[in-house]
Amino acid sequence: MRVVGTFAEVRHNGRGPVGLVPTMGYLHEGHLSHVHAARQAGDGTVVMSLFVNPLQFGPDEDLARYPRDLDRDRTLAEDAGVDVLFAPELEEMYPTRPNTRVEVGGPATALEARSRPGHFAGMATVVTKLFAGIRPDRAYFGRKDAQQLAVIRRLTADLSFPVEIVGGPIIRHADGLALSSRNVCLSAGDRIAAAGLCRGLMAAADAAEAGERHGPALEALVRAALMAKPGVHVDYVELASADRVERLVELDRPAFLAVAARVGAVRLIDNIHLDPVGNTADGKFVADRGVRLDRASVMDAGGR
Ligand code: PAJ
Repeated sequence: MRVVGTFAEVRHNGRGPVGLVPTMGYLHEGHLSHVHAARQAGDGTVVMSLFVNPLQFGPDEDLARYPRDLDRDRTLAEDAGVDVLFAPELEEMYPTRPNTRVEVGGPATALEARSRPGHFAGMATVVTKLFAGIRPDRAYFGRKDAQQLAVIRRLTADLSFPVEIVGGPIIRHADGLALSSRNVCLSAGDRIAAAGLCRGLMAAADAAEAGERHGPALEALVRAALMAKPGVHVDYVELASADRVERLVELDRPAFLAVAARVGAVRLIDNIHLDPVGNTADGKFVADRGVRLDRASVMDAGGR
């Protein structure tokens, strides 16, 4: 595996179709699942980018606290089969203070956008730079960030990037908590409370598969699992359409049920996708519950 710091070096090291896995580092099995997907898809060169993008953090957010450990990430990336690890300095990514931002509308205006103004424009700007500077054939993103995935699909279509966007399932700890680099900032007590997010979503997944189509009823199941949990403050629970990210009162198309909550000092998000089975008129939906690890995560082993 080569570790490089410039776009030019990434392009120079590309052979055959290039698969790109964008990350902000502090890697876990969620990130690495996309590397495996790229390897399986037969990408000739698997590039992972590792850059904590200041543009997508608000002034009151956790940019300074965001976990970073390049040595740890280098080993994990190499073991997973990454060919080129692109870990640029701030100066490579933003040689000057950018005058240009990617303006995102539609799916970027709901859910997360209400609590994180400017977040999606900052994210879309760095993803645009990665697409322009690396020119991947395929790019891999997680359903963990369902709204981000919808924004990126729209951005790719709107700006005619010749890149195929591939979405992968949510990878979870054995107790259901979705893997996130931010989990290392949870205290032991908060960690237990945080598993409530997944528990609520799974109850809603059961109900949806049993025929519940009413959005507010599904949302209430998630809220109920988080009620009276000390240290948990729910930001939103919402059923939204998968592509446009518009609120759904009735589950009648591909959707995701999303939750965001502050647990202790950490803001966590999670969701389940709900997809129609066969004919939508039948009203049957199947939930994508993600994939649970059957062992401890690399997040548990190393700590911080
Ligand atoms: P980051 O949070 O590091 O996530 C990188 C990629 O890994 C994203 O596509 C995210 O959805 C995916 N991912 C994170 N946790 C996952 C999990 N538990 N299971 C499956 N996939 C998971 O998302 C970002 O970075 C940034 O916004 C980025 C796209 C890199 C732009 O800066």
